[in-house]
Amino acid sequence: TNPSLLILPGDGIGPEVMAEVRKIIDWFGAKRGITFDVSEDLVGGCAYDKHGTPLHDDTMAKAQEVDAVLLGAVGGPKYDALDFSIKPERGLLRLRKEMDLYSNLRPAQCFDALADFSSLKKDVVAGLDIMIVRELTSGVYFGEPRGIFEEGNERVGINTQRYTESEIDRVARSAFELAMKRGKKLCSMEKANVMESGILWREVVTEVGKDYPEVELSHMYADAGAMQLTRWPKQFDVIVTDNLFGDLLSDLAAMLTGSLGMLPSASLGAPMDNGRPKALYEPVHGSAPDIAGQGKANPCACILSFAMALRYSFDMGDEATRLEQAVNAVLAQGIRTADLLNEEGITPATTAEMGDAVVAALDAS
Ligand code: NAI
Ligand code: MG
Repeated sequence: TNPSLLILPGDGIGPEVMAEVRKIIDWFGAKRGITFDVSEDLVGGCAYDKHGTPLHDDTMAKAQEVDAVLLGAVGGPKYDALDFSIKPERGLLRLRKEMDLYSNLRPAQCFDALADFSSLKKDVVAGLDIMIVRELTSGVYFGEPRGIFEEGNERVGINTQRYTESEIDRVARSAFELAMKRGKKLCSMEKANVMESGILWREVVTEVGKDYPEVELSHMYADAGAMQLTRWPKQFDVIVTDNLFGDLLSDLAAMLTGSLGMLPSASLGAPMDNGRPKALYEPVHGSAPDIAGQGKANPCACILSFAMALRYSFDMGDEATRLEQAVNAVLAQGIRTADLLNEEGITPATTAEMGDAVVAALDAS
């Protein structure tokens, strides 16, 4: 049977960038004989407009069945006044929660053609290709007790960093599996020097590592990790860390390389019957209402999210690389959307021109 994909374009620039991904999917069918069973549905504000809820139960059920979900973006000013329980973001949160997507993958990948665009020195970022795996469903953002309490004559704000062995075990496994598909090198980051949860984290990751003898495992304190990420990021391949440190380190790592319009992400859950993890792929950016409907959006983040799906859900690593190289080739030709240009006097490519150029580069590959 064909691999199945649920596409949820969403709001704002979501449908615009997803239209370019559809061209790529069609190309794989026509030119490589790789056919996906694609279904498309609503999420976010557009789902609210039609159904009065940002994610219909039928859509949720479909998401649970497919091999992978690819989402554009949700939200927009039109929906800002809605009650939180029916806001567009809730559609996305429901997907993440009910699919139990505990492993958030954020790559920091520098396309050669964009090495000049980074705020870091060119030799520090050129060729960079690392992956941060952030635990997404536990830790200090969820731990109890939490709240603002009266204590004596003042208030105290409390959050609790809490990790069970099984929560650490499953995200560690997900990171080791990724490392096996990449450079077989994993660095785990915590603060075992000052945190009990960090001590347990290090123990459990070390234990899981015994099941992956081919992967070279190292440990680093997260603050030192932040320094090393900016000093010499190419020393890393896969990094695994908790929810809070991952929030900071993945934003830091992502910006080593350039624009929001280039950043893909994935959120993975437990392996399904077919051995593949439950998976949701989406660009890091939002619905960009300031440029929506104008053909200005950079489709690369969404295209590269599809490349991640090829690699991590469909075991098509070579095809994923082919697609990433096509994106690099387009950038190298100087074809760029407005977000990737800082010189004036150059006419930016439109969303559709960028997508067409990637298809042409695939053809030439
Ligand atoms: P945003 O990511 O939508 O936009 C931030 C800035 O980056 C804007 O100036 C935008 O034009 C630019 N930008 C973003 N993606 C781009 C692309 N592909 N090509 C070129 N430029 C791009 O974040 P913002 O403005 O904070 O939020 C806008 C809406 O999106 C809000 O309703 C927010 O709730 C929602 N949002 C949704 C997310 C999601 O669906 N995962 C994530 C972040 C925000
Ligand atoms: Mg963040």
